Amino acid sequence: MKKTKILLIGSGGQLGSELTQGLWKIYGQQNVIASDIKDAQGILKEGPYEKFDVMQRDRLFELIKKHEITQIYHLAALLSATGEKDPRWAWKLNMESLLFVLEAAYELKLHKVYWPSSIAAFGPTTPKQNTPQHTIMDPTTVYGITKLAGELWCEYYFRRYGVDVRSLRYPGLIGYKTLPGGGTTDYAVDIYFKALKEKKYECFLAADT
Ligand SMILES: NC(=O)c1ccc[n+]([C@@H]2O[C@H](COP(=O)([O-])OP(=O)(O)OC[C@H]3O[C@@H](n4cnc5c(N)ncnc54)[C@H](O)[C@@H]3O)[C@@H](O)[C@H]2O)c1
Repeated sequence: MKKTKILLIGSGGQLGSELTQGLWKIYGQQNVIASDIKDAQGILKEGPYEKFDVMQRDRLFELIKKHEITQIYHLAALLSATGEKDPRWAWKLNMESLLFVLEAAYELKLHKVYWPSSIAAFGPTTPKQNTPQHTIMDPTTVYGITKLAGELWCEYYFRRYGVDVRSLRYPGLIGYKTLPGGGTTDYAVDIYFKALKEKKYECFLAADT
């Protein structure tokens, strides 16, 4: 069995910046290759880093071979609010990048892939109390559509090719180390940054929300 070596795609984001450090603790800094389309920021400069666009399929395959990667955490995506500004691009980035990662996992025999889904895969007619795993899925945003389709692609690659791919449907997650990336819970982070910088914040939520 090859030694665990992780490529984390989207390390510069809210989840990625925390997860990279969490994985450093478990697997050792040298065994976690952080990556993002942006330059390394803050603490990520301390560990191995590759600036890379996940839409470059060849580069993805190259990096996996170069670093002898055995697992990928694929976090790069266009989020809900940003996705609504450019639905076609959200579909392309979120779907194609996932397919590149799944193809790489199959072709290069990776041990594991992790790709987060979201409660955005649910919709207005999904039961709101004790929501079952298998239930009505009628997402209303292109982001939610990509998460639902992505879940099905992951399932397909597992059943058809035996790729070990795992996912969780996250609710709104926030962190303070990076600026919000365009999700529905961005306001919660934005409030703190604006409070410090501008001493005020106007929220789009209704007063009684
Ligand atoms: N934050 C949440 O509340 C939440 C909830 C559910 C699911 N998720 C999922 O978790 C993942 C990470 O979310 P996040 O909140 O950290 O998002 P984020 O926007 O903060 O981070 C995404 C990162 O991906 C990078 N990226 C974008 N395009 C890229 C490209 N072409 N190549 C390489 N990197 C690229 C961005 O630069 C950014 O650093 C996403 O898949 C998201 O759908 C997040």
